[in-house]
Amino acid sequence: MERILVTSALTYANGPLHIGHVAGSYLNADIFVRYCKLKGKDVIYIGGTDDHGAPISIKAEEEGISPQELVARYNKSMKEDLKKLSIELDNFSSTSTSEHNKLSQDFFLNLMDAGYINQKTSKQFYDKKHKRFLPDRYIEGICPYCKSPEARGDQCDSCGKLIDAVNLIEPRSKISGETPVIKETTHWYLNLPKFEPELRKWLETKKYWKDNVRNFILSWLDEGLIERAITRDIDWGVPVPLENAKGKVLYVWFDAPIGYISSTKEWAKRQGKPDLWKEYWLNPETKLIHFLGKDNIPFHTIIWPAVLSKQKDKYVLPYDVPANEFLNLEGQKMSTSRSWTVWVEDYLKYFEGELLRYVLAANAPETKDSDFTWKDFQNKINNDLNNVLGNLANRTFIFAKKYFDGKIEEELELSESSQMALRICKDTLSDVENSFNTYQVRKAVKSIIDIARSGNKYFDETKPWKEIKTNKQKANETLYVCAELLNAISIALYPILPDKMLELRKMMNLSGKFCWKDIWDLQRRFIIGEVSPLFKKIEDAEIEKQLELLKATRKGKEKMEHKSEITFDDFEKLEMRIGKILEAENIPKSKKLLKLKVDIGGEERSVVAGISESYEPKELIGKKVAMLINLNPRKVMGVESQAMILAAEDEGELVILVPEKDIKEGSEIS
Ligand code: MF3
Ligand code: ZN
Repeated sequence: MERILVTSALTYANGPLHIGHVAGSYLNADIFVRYCKLKGKDVIYIGGTDDHGAPISIKAEEEGISPQELVARYNKSMKEDLKKLSIELDNFSSTSTSEHNKLSQDFFLNLMDAGYINQKTSKQFYDKKHKRFLPDRYIEGICPYCKSPEARGDQCDSCGKLIDAVNLIEPRSKISGETPVIKETTHWYLNLPKFEPELRKWLETKKYWKDNVRNFILSWLDEGLIERAITRDIDWGVPVPLENAKGKVLYVWFDAPIGYISSTKEWAKRQGKPDLWKEYWLNPETKLIHFLGKDNIPFHTIIWPAVLSKQKDKYVLPYDVPANEFLNLEGQKMSTSRSWTVWVEDYLKYFEGELLRYVLAANAPETKDSDFTWKDFQNKINNDLNNVLGNLANRTFIFAKKYFDGKIEEELELSESSQMALRICKDTLSDVENSFNTYQVRKAVKSIIDIARSGNKYFDETKPWKEIKTNKQKANETLYVCAELLNAISIALYPILPDKMLELRKMMNLSGKFCWKDIWDLQRRFIIGEVSPLFKKIEDAEIEKQLELLKATRKGKEKMEHKSEITFDDFEKLEMRIGKILEAENIPKSKKLLKLKVDIGGEERSVVAGISESYEPKELIGKKVAMLINLNPRKVMGVESQAMILAAEDEGELVILVPEKDIKEGSEIS
């Protein structure tokens, strides 16, 4: 029997859930699973947190708690956030369970028995102060290629080149800041080149995978596979199950995907059928579908299938890996370290979870990166959901209530335009099905909203408000057709807006239990119950508030941009003196500029300063200020500026610099 096993990439448990996680691998998986369920398929949805790896142990250390405490905290908060977004996994586990440890060790030993693991000794950086080997990302130094001072041990962000950590110039440990030493260490390597022919053959059967995924894999294969170390010298992780590997753990990327299986096992136990997991993982008819972001592609399409295929048990290999590209935020790459993201828990303080589902689905980064902006969030909610879908429901219901006591009768003889409206809907629904089957959520959303849009047009054209006066039956016909459309929408849009669509169905007295077939059951009679608006508009002020919050959290986390160095001679070229402001007045028609007269020590200068949003002219008179006086004179709004007042800026607020004690005007600054 066909079964579908859907997974979302296990999320690192070193922070809460943000919209990038939702758009990357949770929402698309949840929508697909809900659709499969409507289709009556046997599907389970598995996920959890990825608890291992150096970043987690380092963060725990910084906070003075155990890694176990840290991951438990974030596992819990993610579970709660997912629930509030109506993302319903059948099991949300974690990779720090003993069941998972055991299974990962078995996986390692099976690979070893099958002859796919080699032991090798190599040189690596070691932090003497912290007594640990340094993962590449925890070493910084000067890039050997472009000389950027901030290259990491694995890559230089300035020139983009991949780096071998031991080649960094002036390396330093990111943990202690000290110069690391080079030490020999032994590790176990997965012999990927040995898998290559088999992998290529298997990938040949995956012609139906998304182009972005296939291209990624092919370029990886063409660069040539190399042996990869699957063990690490850290103390947080799954211990390597070998006598001579004390203090070493499995590489986080080795054990993480095995978490999909341990999570399924946990699920089976909770069902009271501990062997049930086998009917998914060990069943050749299971379609294993991994939802993830593009950075996870190689691990799931090369390393993971390789590892799975050499186990004693015969596991199914991934059937499909519909990877998403990245979601940007307000035109910039998301970054949690720079606080450039939207945390789900913060979002939920202001808006309903389902609205986020809608916007992220309509704008899913399926084939290329997409951009989340608050303005677009507002537009999509106000236009698609309020003006189009909400409007169709609202006008149909209100009209039915007002003139028909909420009862909409079946119509057997339909006018040409009514038949047409139903036909458009039916055709569009088959597009929607096709889109859901191929993970094209954006397209599905667009088609469904188009159904509502054509419904509104039909309502306008048939003018029931006019017909009601002369031909009540005609008016009923319009309502009947619109009610059919709304029934169809309530099912088609259910995978995206589950709670809202249940609400809609309730208003129409339609069953809360339904399947995809019910989409075109031509209902015949509708009784409209209690109604209320499904959506409400988002005001400009609400959006401005979010933009402010975003900027505020970013402040302070932003990396300072520096100018290039200058010499002391350069500095000496500046003539800076204390000036005393004698006169100050606004410059007409200018928002920011003031015209000042300043005494720089027996010499008067006229100065144009852009400080009128921070200072009133009269509060400036008599003040002594720091000035640069040998800048080229410039004409600004018709006034010559012969010097510059020094000021510092804080969030748009300008503050002028004044001497700490009274001092004679003309005194030189150096
Ligand atoms: N934690 C990884 C990431 O966020 C994804 C792990 S997916 C798994 O990039 F399959 F390995 F679990
Ligand atoms: Zn570089």
